[in-house]
Amino acid sequence: MNLTHTITALQGLLGERLTTANAVRDHHSRDTGWHAAAMPDAVAFPRTVGEVQEIVRLCVENDVPMVPYGAGSSMEGHTIPARGGITIDTREMNQILEIRPQDGLAVVQSGVTRKQLNTELRATGLMFSVDPGADASLGGMASTRGSGTMAYRYGTMRDNVLALKVVTPDGKLVKTGSRARKSSTGYDLTHLFVGAEGTLGVITELTVRLHPIPEAISSAVCAFPDAASAVETVIEAVQYGVPMARVEFLDAVAVAGVNAYSKTTMKVAPTLMFEFHGTDAWVAEQAQIVAGIAADHGAEDFVWTADAEERTKLWQARHDLYWATKAIRPGSELYTGDICVPISELAGQIEAARADIEDSFLLGQIIGHVGDGNYHAAYIIQPDDARELAEAERLAERLVERALTVGGTASGEHGIGTGKLKFLRAEHGDAAVDLMKTLKSAIDPKGLMNPGKLGQGG
Ligand code: MLT
Ligand code: ZN
Repeated sequence: MNLTHTITALQGLLGERLTTANAVRDHHSRDTGWHAAAMPDAVAFPRTVGEVQEIVRLCVENDVPMVPYGAGSSMEGHTIPARGGITIDTREMNQILEIRPQDGLAVVQSGVTRKQLNTELRATGLMFSVDPGADASLGGMASTRGSGTMAYRYGTMRDNVLALKVVTPDGKLVKTGSRARKSSTGYDLTHLFVGAEGTLGVITELTVRLHPIPEAISSAVCAFPDAASAVETVIEAVQYGVPMARVEFLDAVAVAGVNAYSKTTMKVAPTLMFEFHGTDAWVAEQAQIVAGIAADHGAEDFVWTADAEERTKLWQARHDLYWATKAIRPGSELYTGDICVPISELAGQIEAARADIEDSFLLGQIIGHVGDGNYHAAYIIQPDDARELAEAERLAERLVERALTVGGTASGEHGIGTGKLKFLRAEHGDAAVDLMKTLKSAIDPKGLMNPGKLGQGG
């Protein structure tokens, strides 16, 4: 590896947009999760595709590892530069290139964040629907195949990315997909890069789908006697075909955390939060149908509102849940499990996960994007306490084993990073993981693009 030469050449190319400053390297040494930090040797802030191509060519020529980086909000160590090298931070690639309301799509550089795009879209009556909570970059969200609270109704990044431009390790700019809603031409390269976690190239541009902002939006909160009743309510609402825009589960620990952190006054009990989209009449009808199902499952109340301010407060509190949970135990980190199962299995899985927490000395909580069968367990740990870390690992492994037994997946939305690599073979089998490795080494023969992760480890 000729690192010094690469850094000097990159300084020539980017000037001050290539930095070896400690504070910047430190910022890029960690993500939002608990994983151990590792510093990059330098951080590059390209603005153009040409600059990304030049960075990639220089790194490959000099055997220097590279890590594509969006907003750093991932949780499984995706952007931690395990082998040092150059972190390619796309934050300055933040141009919204085109908005085509008539086609319901937008073309953006990969560093554009979801909130930035939605602010720009306001006047058009359209929205970008994928909402993982954090103000993530679209390139990062595509790389992790992210989703969050609105996926049940509007889909994940898999469903909302139509086309990409990607700089591959050979320095070429690859265009995938088109502006058409569907296509049956060729290998689906778009969806090879969506979820590749920056191991196959640097995404520089995305064409994404947009959805009409609904005429009416309402939200509701409902407390249940136990988690199973809440989840059964969701299963029935899904089976009934209610197109809920959001349906989030919080256990009692999570509700208590939210109340303390966001100054809300929800009853401390297993709870569902809903959002309904449509016309005035249609959102009222959806709320009525779900309230009826909830009452059948012992719900004590069903408080719904069409007031925009109350709704914003509610979802801000949900989005701040991660920070609320950390605040339960100051100085802690969250070891998060992220499981997705066929929805009919969800109640049993959540109950078993809750029972594991009751039997453990660790404090933990369960929340979920339950319309999708996706839930998170968060174990509140001090990561430098080996006993606590080992216990969280044990509990998280049990979650995955249980999910795989019923045909689920080790991650619904957080991805693999380094944290979930060990589960790949159990979920996909040897033949599939070996094929992933063959693809990786064909596209990145020197193994320099986000090394030690998908396509190499596991
Ligand atoms: C969420 O659902 O809030 C995010 O996926 C992060 C988390 O697991 O807390
Ligand atoms: Zn989530």
